[in-house]
Amino acid sequence: MKNIYSNIYSFNKKLLKKTVESLKQGKIAGLPTETVYGLAGNAYSNKAVKNIFEIKKRPKKNPLIIHYLDLKYVKQDVVLNDSFFKLYKAFCPGPLTFVLKKNKKTKIVPLATSNLKTVAIRFPNHKIIQSILKFTNFPLAMPSANLSSKLSPVNAYDVFDDFKKKLRIIINGGNSKFGIESTVIDLTTEPKILRPGVISSEEIKSILKKNLSKKKSNIKSPGMMKKHYSPGIPLILGSKPKNRDHAYIVFGKKYKKNLNYFNLSKKGDLKEAAANLYKTLRKIKKSGYKKIFVAKIPNFGAGIAINDRLKRASK
Ligand code: TXA
Ligand code: MG
Repeated sequence: MKNIYSNIYSFNKKLLKKTVESLKQGKIAGLPTETVYGLAGNAYSNKAVKNIFEIKKRPKKNPLIIHYLDLKYVKQDVVLNDSFFKLYKAFCPGPLTFVLKKNKKTKIVPLATSNLKTVAIRFPNHKIIQSILKFTNFPLAMPSANLSSKLSPVNAYDVFDDFKKKLRIIINGGNSKFGIESTVIDLTTEPKILRPGVISSEEIKSILKKNLSKKKSNIKSPGMMKKHYSPGIPLILGSKPKNRDHAYIVFGKKYKKNLNYFNLSKKGDLKEAAANLYKTLRKIKKSGYKKIFVAKIPNFGAGIAINDRLKRASK
């Protein structure tokens, strides 16, 4: 039988070489990270970045995150500041993305940042992508590897679901550890969270030793469009399902086992729940349920990111 997943590869030295070569030619690849899988291309190549927007059907006004191995190449692309260094020391590599002022000398192509004067940068904590970044002399522009407005992928087969053979290489790096996108923080003015993630505002506050701004940012995070993270079937927040054709997403130990109940974390751990969120939404859709109802989920720590994604998925 023909292997339909022939573009999904396990990682080894030969594949490392093949992937790096391919990226150098301006091609794009589906790569694992600790948050979600990404669609990676050379951030300094117009061809690669154009390719990313096209295949994802992403609106041109929604800028990409640029991914680095370490600080070596960062300075030529962005202007670093005190808050950045503090947070970098505390959380990087890891699931935190910084919005900073663009350096005039940057080689990042304007399309990657939607012509903004700012750049979002991240240092992913995943062995595979780190070993690829060691051999590229450019950073990787890398949005989540899903069609625009759909659910983010947390394993190689999720990436395949959206793009099939349109990608030459999808690297199988197992399930993403965090299973939800990075926290995005704007550091161009008073530090402000643009997208909640597993690193909570409490954790960030404790490192910066100051409160985060609640003001409306003048740089919008366009990815925070209202409709996003769509599971493809209606999702209703805060109420119970009416019948067994409807799935019920719950959280915590007070819920008994039930065929149409999907518990994000039986032990009531919000990080575990975040890691299970997209996985669960996909599973429910694939099982043929017509609607999803969601019980109340605590709104602190990683719960803030979960509720943010659920709210957008419900639009
Ligand atoms: O965890 C993650 O961040 C994953 C993995 C693959 O690294 N990537 C990811 O990328 O979630 P994406 O493209 O799905 O989301 C990027 C977010 C969007 O909300 C976008 O608007 C915002 O970052 N963003 C990018 N550049 C920005 C900028 N210069 N200013 C404000 N927001 C920016
Ligand atoms: Mg995305």
